Amino acid sequence: MRTTNLLTWGLSLASLALPSQAIELDLSSDESIKSAASTVAYGMMKYYHGNETGQTIGLLPWPYYWWHAGAVFGAMVDYWYYTGDTSYNAVTSQALIFQAGPDADYMPENQTKTEGNDDQAFWGMAAMSAAELNFPNPPQDQPQWLALAQATFNTQALRWDTKSCNGGLRWQVFTFNAGYNYKNSISNGGFFNLASRLAAYTGNSSYVDWAVKSWDWMEEVGLMTPEYYIYDGSDTTKNCSTVDKLQWTYNAGIFLLGAATMWNHTGEDIWKERTQGLWNATNVFFTSDKIMYEVACEPGGNCNTDQHTFKAYLARWMAASSKVAPFLSSQIAPYLAASAMGAAASCSGGTDGVTCGTKWFANTSEASVTWDNTWGVGQQLCALEVIQSNLIKGARGPVTNSTGGTSTGDDAAGGKSDSERAGVPRKITQADRAGAVIITILVLAGWIGGMIWLII
Ligand SMILES: *[C@@H]1O[C@H](CO)[C@@H](O)[C@H](O)[C@H]1NC(C)=O
Ligand SMILES: *[C@@H]1O[C@H](CO)[C@@H](O)[C@H](O)[C@H]1NC(C)=O
Ligand SMILES: *[C@@H]1O[C@H](CO)[C@@H](O)[C@H](O)[C@H]1NC(C)=O
Ligand SMILES: *[C@@H]1O[C@H](CO)[C@@H](O)[C@H](O)[C@H]1NC(C)=O
Ligand SMILES: *[C@@H]1O[C@H](CO)[C@@H](O)[C@H](O)[C@H]1NC(C)=O
Ligand SMILES: *[C@@H]1O[C@H](CO)[C@@H](O)[C@H](O)[C@H]1NC(C)=O
Ligand SMILES: *[C@@H]1O[C@H](CO)[C@@H](O)[C@H](O)[C@H]1NC(C)=O
Ligand SMILES: *[C@@H]1O[C@H](CO)[C@@H](O)[C@H](O)[C@H]1NC(C)=O
Repeated sequence: MRTTNLLTWGLSLASLALPSQAIELDLSSDESIKSAASTVAYGMMKYYHGNETGQTIGLLPWPYYWWHAGAVFGAMVDYWYYTGDTSYNAVTSQALIFQAGPDADYMPENQTKTEGNDDQAFWGMAAMSAAELNFPNPPQDQPQWLALAQATFNTQALRWDTKSCNGGLRWQVFTFNAGYNYKNSISNGGFFNLASRLAAYTGNSSYVDWAVKSWDWMEEVGLMTPEYYIYDGSDTTKNCSTVDKLQWTYNAGIFLLGAATMWNHTGEDIWKERTQGLWNATNVFFTSDKIMYEVACEPGGNCNTDQHTFKAYLARWMAASSKVAPFLSSQIAPYLAASAMGAAASCSGGTDGVTCGTKWFANTSEASVTWDNTWGVGQQLCALEVIQSNLIKGARGPVTNSTGGTSTGDDAAGGKSDSERAGVPRKITQADRAGAVIITILVLAGWIGGMIWLII
């Protein structure tokens, strides 16, 4: 399979493309939405070989990282919830359990050395969705969805760091990774998102306190503006006195669902105001035709593998937010609809004729949307989430422990401190240094990219 992949990657797909087929999508028909989602999900899961002999369960092949797989299986929990199609439930469960690692906290030994808080959160949030949506529970002797989400939360609460910036979570967990000196919105957003959802599911007020604390910190350091725009991150060596002002769809989405859930759970007006404000601030990510795009990289055609997946999460969390904060429902629906139509039209490429592209809108008002010659897990994932999100109106809402939730929790899960983890070197090796240099270069490239975007 590797060889086939490489061969495909080496050739220009355009020259192989069959006459374009595209995916039919009629948003007035649930069956049409389900059928489109099924085609796109199939195209995404073709990349997954972790359940085959000799492969590792829960991992995607290069160039995809561990966290991408967590995002993909989170999307497959949603896929089952929206469509009722159980075809992928077994592989999804298997992956979510296997990658939980020996301490059942999404810090598996093979990944800990390079794992960031955001990476862990994507797996933790997939488990949280499984609990909220009553995805079939694992056998009793395996880790349970709610406990996995709590373990992720608990390990991160222990990492709350007041030595710089008066609080917040760092991006990286370990000092030898360059991103250790970066406190970013996605890491703190993952923590906030989980805290709010655990508060709603369990009714335990400790989670409310943490959600409030992490929100307040975001505002205090200026990672969230008074107009609710969310910037990328800040440098601990400067006590977070400067911020990288890049804006990404997934940061907006992760806070939107957290705030919407806080409003649903507490009923407080302040959370309604914040939820509405966050939704308003997503305006930077939509064209005048209400079609979502990744403003910081898509226009320049230079989104990286990570960034190619981000729109999936804004779509995922817009839909979920409109369920727990129904006052947003009629505001959000037209944006999910227009984006889904564009996404489906972009799914007209590749050798199968239904491969999805990055760009969901046409260059001019006369032109129609076509496949833009890009492909990958990210493109499939974004199209899948935005298409299936159009089923949100008829879907049941998330359950809690007192409204039919059946997942077993464990308040004390994931209490292990990071200094006692297996697989983490006591001494920094050459290889770690090389890895750190690469991450430094990537971080720097991100900063420079951010500056250029700002200047433009
Ligand atoms: C692996 O998962 C795919 C779905 O993505 C499924 O079609 C296939 O049968 C599974 N293979 C094994 C060996 O379980
Ligand atoms: C860790 O890596 C080893 C060697 O590739 C593999 O056998 C094992 O299944 C992996 N474990 C996880 C949780 O990925
Ligand atoms: C560091 O930043 C935090 C948050 O903005 C602030 O409360 C604190 O006083 C600053 N500390 C120093 C030493 O500047
Ligand atoms: C959101 O936008 C609407 C419409 O422009 C405006 O009326 C409202 O005040 C805004 N709310 C917040 C909290 O920004
Ligand atoms: C809270 O969310 C649930 C869905 O889980 C929804 O049914 C309910 O109406 C929401 N509460 C309010 C006050 O809107
Ligand atoms: C128009 O869009 C297509 C597909 O998205 C792209 O391949 C092409 O380069 C674009 N043309 C211009 C002039 O921007
Ligand atoms: C859920 O509720 C049941 C009964 O109300 C209780 O026994 C159980 O401990 C609760 N679980 C959690 C995780 O709060
Ligand atoms: C609430 O959650 C906290 C943090 O996980 C835990 O320490 C505490 O025991 C929980 N309290 C109750 C009443 O469940």
